[in-house]
Amino acid sequence: MKTLLVTGGAGFIGSCFIRTQIESYNIINLDALTYAGNLENLKPVENYPHYRFVKGDICDRKLLDKLFSENEIDAVINFAAETHVDRSIEDPETFLRTNVMGTGALLDICKKSWQLCPDDKYCREYKPSVKFVQVSTDEVYGELGKTGLFTEKSPLAPNSPYSASKASADLLASAYHHTFVLPVSITRCSNNYGPCQFPEKLIPLIINNSLNDKPLPLYGDGLQVRDWLHVEDHCDAIAVVLERGQPGEIYNIGGNCERANIEIVKTILHILDKPESLISYVKDRPGHDRRYAIDNTKIQAELGWQPKYLFENGIKETIKWYLENMEWMERVTSGEYALYYKSMYGK
Ligand code: NAD
Ligand code: TYD
Repeated sequence: MKTLLVTGGAGFIGSCFIRTQIESYNIINLDALTYAGNLENLKPVENYPHYRFVKGDICDRKLLDKLFSENEIDAVINFAAETHVDRSIEDPETFLRTNVMGTGALLDICKKSWQLCPDDKYCREYKPSVKFVQVSTDEVYGELGKTGLFTEKSPLAPNSPYSASKASADLLASAYHHTFVLPVSITRCSNNYGPCQFPEKLIPLIINNSLNDKPLPLYGDGLQVRDWLHVEDHCDAIAVVLERGQPGEIYNIGGNCERANIEIVKTILHILDKPESLISYVKDRPGHDRRYAIDNTKIQAELGWQPKYLFENGIKETIKWYLENMEWMERVTSGEYALYYKSMYGK
């Protein structure tokens, strides 16, 4: 079996990737366990002999050297990131450090460890079948007007410190392919939903507040549009890109599921049988992107991937998961989350 270094594997998407792919790979999970990392998400795999957790930072070059010298790593899937737009508005620097410098450190160690002749600066030969997958976001393309979809050829036009840091990481990853021929593929995915998502993001925040009869903060007019994809579909697409994606290529991944935020909130209220009077329009996010939507044609035509979940079923299953895992929610919303919530939304 191939050995994967999965970074950020204790977060929402990385943990889903590990849970769903553990039968196919040896996995080393490198995660710094920031507020968003939660080892509880990995309970189902923690006793697998071919799964190992390493607590550490992707910016720590000494640790990366050690990991690569002690293990035959065949591929890196880089999920590790600071991921919340609102936090990037409060504190951009953390985003630059992890998302840009951290990705740079990972690209460097892969180049050094995988090149067949690392002392030759013109070396273009790599160990067979190695791969670096940079997990990115559709937010690097900026915002869409009322029509049109993001393709892989859409220009990069990020608007938030988060998306600008992700776009920077993508450019670095492309440059390592162009200059050093490092086998890198980049995936750019739309908004994910599903189990184990930290409740700073729209869907779990709305579920949690609805269950507690708390106001549901909707930014601006609530008519911003996102393209929702179930997290398992995203992880499935990443596995396909890992196995069959071409080096140097970018693959957009989306759910063909555009919904305005107000529709999402009303759907959740309806499923939970809670009143719409809980909706509370609040001041808009600065620089708020109006609409994102992905054109999936390339990954569908070239790699044969398409989403399996229908949103109407996926959202019901997701709500059911949160209902059955109220203790998970209680644990992640204690401590740091309470301080964050107060600073974002007041009382
Ligand atoms: P998340 O915030 O839930 O998890 C991020 C994980 O990275 C956490 O476990 C955290 O501890 C870890 N981490 C943060 N800084 C680190 C560092 N310096 N070193 C090591 N680990 C560190 O994020 P997510 O929603 O699971 O997103 C995963 C990836 O997918 C990110 O790169 C994100 O940009 C991308 N993405 C997310 C979405 C989405 O809707 N959530 C959509 C498209 C792309
Ligand atoms: P979010 O889950 O933060 O993802 P992103 O900003 O990366 O798309 O937000 C999804 C949408 O929901 C976005 O348009 C902002 C909006 N939103 C609210 O209206 N209220 C909230 O409390 C949050 C967290 C998000």
